[in-house]
Amino acid sequence: MASRVFRSSLGLASRLRPAASFVPCQTRAFAASSRNMSAPFYSFEPEGPTVKTDIPGPRAKAAIAELDQVFDTRSLNMLVDYQKSSGNYIADPDGNVLLDVYAQIASIPIGYNNPTLLKAARSDDMINGLINRPALGNFPPEDWASVLKTGILKVAPKGLDQVFTAMAGSDANETAYKAAFMWRRQQDRGGHHVEFTEEELASSMRNEAPGASQSLSILSFKTGFHGRLFGSLSTTRSKPIHKLDIPAFDWPQATFPLLKYPLEEHAAENAAAEQAALQEVEHLLTTYRVPPCAVIVEPIQSEGGDNHASAAFFRGLREVTRKHNVLLIVDEVQTGVGATGRFWAHEHWDLPHPPDMVTFSKKAQTAGYYFGNPELRPNKPYRQFNTWMGDPARALLFRAIIQEIERLDLVANTARVGDYLYGKLEALAKQYPGQFDNLRGKGMGTFIAFDNPRRDEFLLRAKKFGVNIGGSGQSAVRLRPMLIFQEKHADLLVEALEKIVKSF
Ligand SMILES: Cc1ncc(COP(=O)(O)O)c(C=O)c1O
Repeated sequence: MASRVFRSSLGLASRLRPAASFVPCQTRAFAASSRNMSAPFYSFEPEGPTVKTDIPGPRAKAAIAELDQVFDTRSLNMLVDYQKSSGNYIADPDGNVLLDVYAQIASIPIGYNNPTLLKAARSDDMINGLINRPALGNFPPEDWASVLKTGILKVAPKGLDQVFTAMAGSDANETAYKAAFMWRRQQDRGGHHVEFTEEELASSMRNEAPGASQSLSILSFKTGFHGRLFGSLSTTRSKPIHKLDIPAFDWPQATFPLLKYPLEEHAAENAAAEQAALQEVEHLLTTYRVPPCAVIVEPIQSEGGDNHASAAFFRGLREVTRKHNVLLIVDEVQTGVGATGRFWAHEHWDLPHPPDMVTFSKKAQTAGYYFGNPELRPNKPYRQFNTWMGDPARALLFRAIIQEIERLDLVANTARVGDYLYGKLEALAKQYPGQFDNLRGKGMGTFIAFDNPRRDEFLLRAKKFGVNIGGSGQSAVRLRPMLIFQEKHADLLVEALEKIVKSF
């Protein structure tokens, strides 16, 4: 199996060097073939994967051994040649090129070496942002308002017109939690402008109440994932390995309604599970020994097994949080920026009132949380602050990503290709019973997953058949293609998936 060549070799991609070799297609002008329904977005991608050696091959093995002397390689998935990677394809040092539907843990939005991003990276604005990195809270650049309005805030979820910028997903969640705690304690004090007492000031320095609140919590869901920093880790419930040995807060967890598939055959049972979960949330909000001031939830539990819930469940969650004056934080770190066929996954829910905060990172390449209520801005400066508070260079990159998403209508593309891919996977699931179990993500763009009884081996074999795929939870194969994933890529993926299950 070591040397299997698909369709074409790396060819163009191996010759890729910055600038002149990238020719963005004038996409819509291309005639669609009978097989592939849409014209290619870019001309620089290879026609398909190439597998020349085992992965890792000899060059990668040598480089990994060298790396291991100075850096822990036990979590290494594959060693990458980023210069030779292009679009949907990831290359390695041995000349293997894989169709990448894992995309750096769902964080590459518009492909490796995207020409539009290369152009943005070479701009004077980007160079200025990179080499004169500002401490944003103290010394924001003169055009920071404009960078935000034309970028991060241009795609702000409905009803949320402000942003706190951060460095990564965990950081975005933690700062959102801090905003929630400060908001609630100011309410308890009697309003935004009420001063702290001497006792609060002094006790905070001893890590004691009343200054350091011991009586507020964040409610999260079982099997949810919200990051690995101290505060965010207390809300993460996906795997013990993330949490072992780290001091944790006494915060409550509610059951996430683990739905049964196919949904049509379990409608009543699933609705009952969702109702029970909402009741449990309400019970915890009203009785937990450390009262929650916020609930955090992922639109799709992305690390914990690709667990979905219905729009009705999330509307119920919005209702119950409002009823108890508890904030709703929607963690869109993995679901955001187009992958579900809407820019934000929570747009699928048709909420009568927006979430209080929406956190983002990954495909945005920058991070932070959106909010609307001015009282979520702390009542004093420096309560929510750090040196960088985000990064203008990354904000500029997100702006360029947004422009490209708009230019190529990539959210609509993802919705359409997702439906196409889902249809093909449904057919595969029928053909190979037990191999594509609990297929989920219908109508959710390319955010699709299924369970396989030999999941880990499945993911390993995928590379031999030319695709790089990730897993989530105990047994899920999760698909996280980029937004430039098209029908022809879906065809290649489905072919490879069939070969994998046939090889068992
Ligand atoms: C839903 C969700 N929230 C938060 C995080 C943490 O983000 P980061 O790893 O950037 O800190 C992740 C990362 O996978 C995530 O999937």
